[in-house]
Amino acid sequence: MVKTRVIQNTDLEVSSLAYGCWRLAGTWDKKKVSSENLDHGVRAVLTAIDAGYTLFDHADIYCSGIAETIFGQVLSENPSLRDRIFIASKCGIRFPGNPNPTSPQRYDFSAEHIIKSCEESLLRLNTDVIDLYQLHRPDYLMNPAEVANAFEQLHKQGKVRFFGISNFSPSQVDLLSRAHSAICCTSVHQIEISLMQRYALEEGILDQCMLKKMTPLAWSPLAGGVLGDDYQPSEEQFKKYPTLKETHRVLDKIAKEHDTTRSIVALAWLLKHPAGIIPIVGSVNPNRIYHLTNADDLDLSREEWYSLLLAARGIPLP
Ligand SMILES: NC(=O)c1ccc[n+]([C@@H]2O[C@H](COP(=O)([O-])OP(=O)(O)OC[C@H]3O[C@@H](n4cnc5c(N)ncnc54)[C@H](OP(=O)(O)O)[C@@H]3O)[C@@H](O)[C@H]2O)c1
Repeated sequence: MVKTRVIQNTDLEVSSLAYGCWRLAGTWDKKKVSSENLDHGVRAVLTAIDAGYTLFDHADIYCSGIAETIFGQVLSENPSLRDRIFIASKCGIRFPGNPNPTSPQRYDFSAEHIIKSCEESLLRLNTDVIDLYQLHRPDYLMNPAEVANAFEQLHKQGKVRFFGISNFSPSQVDLLSRAHSAICCTSVHQIEISLMQRYALEEGILDQCMLKKMTPLAWSPLAGGVLGDDYQPSEEQFKKYPTLKETHRVLDKIAKEHDTTRSIVALAWLLKHPAGIIPIVGSVNPNRIYHLTNADDLDLSREEWYSLLLAARGIPLP
């Protein structure tokens, strides 16, 4: 049974682990999606619901909207599911060639883009309302008042219940939060955090979440799989994460002591933090989807938590 957590500043009581829909279509390239990919994506969503995840994370760009369409298909075939789950999505990243062939890669928090993107996601997801709508990556041209107006409009029209951000620096969070009304404040901050990616811990982002009562959602909580059970990292990945071997060793030692697995310990390391991190599980493999729900049953000791931190840092604490 997956435990629940209330997202701060909201009445959303969600599973303590979220399910991420980025990889649902099995590819980034819309043109390469086969009917097998679509069926596999539908099965992954149904498995995640059956396993007890109730918070589902999307973005308009995941396989150019196909991930949201797969999810929308599940909802259209099983309408009663909508009342049992919470849907998060994101906007703000624009790929090159959109809308014109010469358009560059960019971020876009214009009110026009936020509103249009949200309305398109609602259609693809086959729902009337998105529970949590997040800004994907900070737009260097962000005008906080314009963003706040777009949020107000979407909220007043009943299209979005609560808002969030992703990958913001603390100063960008401050800037945006000054422009918000109480109703449209940001409730979640979606950040990259795992044993292999700790800047949110070290650069004040988690502190700010606690201060502002924002719930952190952890993307790539297994560092894209390298902290997964039986994962064989490539030479390139060992170069990217020089402390990976030692981190695996300590994860496996702790896992053995608790009669569990490496990936469970890696997620439990996130769940231990007092900011109330919700890891977003990204696997589309049914066995892993079920297995990872066990992570919230493991309460690491402070000693275990620090042993893992030290292994991942590779250098002693100051
Ligand atoms: N806000 C942002 O900028 C941002 C960026 C990236 C992601 N996200 C969100 O975060 C979610 C999770 O990201 P993620 O997919 O990178 O998370 P992750 O859980 O760190 O990685 C999942 C990947 O690892 C693979 N894997 C290999 N061995 C595994 C094992 N033993 N256990 C579990 N996974 C294993 C999975 O493959 P299998 O499917 O074969 O298990 C899958 O491809 C995304 O779906 C998305 O919602 C947000």
